[in-house]
Amino acid sequence: MKFYDDLFAKFSDLDISILINNVGVMNMGNFDDQTVTEIKDTLDINVLPATMLSKKVLPAFLKRKTKSAIINVSSICGLGSMAGNTTYCASKAYLNFFTESIAYELKGRVDIECLMPGVTATKLAGAHGKSASAISPEDVVKGAFRDLGHDAMTGGVFSHDIQVPVVSFLVWLMPGLVNLFFLKVWWPMGMKKVD
Ligand SMILES: NC(=O)c1ccc[n+]([C@@H]2O[C@H](COP(=O)([O-])OP(=O)(O)OC[C@H]3O[C@@H](n4cnc5c(N)ncnc54)[C@H](OP(=O)(O)O)[C@@H]3O)[C@@H](O)[C@H]2O)c1
Repeated sequence: MKFYDDLFAKFSDLDISILINNVGVMNMGNFDDQTVTEIKDTLDINVLPATMLSKKVLPAFLKRKTKSAIINVSSICGLGSMAGNTTYCASKAYLNFFTESIAYELKGRVDIECLMPGVTATKLAGAHGKSASAISPEDVVKGAFRDLGHDAMTGGVFSHDIQVPVVSFLVWLMPGLVNLFFLKVWWPMGMKKVD
């Protein structure tokens, strides 16, 4: 907690109205191939900060005269088990459940959004980030702000938003096939070397 207390002490004189928990790492690969450090980093970076920073801002957010907001940048990968990238997907599943729950708890008092983008053209996405289906980070941001205050759970822009129900449905309908696809096809494609 000391880390978060010290961080907040630096901003104590600012009137913060929006917290965006964007930080994230993805160490693609099977759980048994990952190092203990990679696994711990995923949890320390993807799970704890969004939780603790949300906790730290809430007292001030709830006292502000105008609405405040928290956007947690999760991922479409958190919609179900996706073998081959277990710790990342599980960390995002945590964020999905955490954010949806606090959205209900804080309804009408603080705008809470769980943003679940699909493939975005950044380094984190590996080879997938270079594919034609990857959208720009700028478009992801536009989608996030379009839905803020309206949708607690969103993919953001239309092309990502439509993937949320489709992926959820497929994971529910045929988890075995979906996990096989991710394990054997999707994540190995993402791990291909890119320039
Ligand atoms: N790219 C995708 O396809 C995709 C899809 C769905 C969700 N997301 C999510 O979007 C968010 C942003 O990712 P991105 O795609 O923009 O990837 P990115 O370009 O690699 O950005 C990751 C961000 O996290 C920060 N970060 C990573 N490790 C950190 C650490 N140990 N301490 C402090 N900061 C750290 C980075 O800071 P520095 O710039 O200082 O390194 C950077 O701002 C993540 O939560 C990711 O899971 C991405």
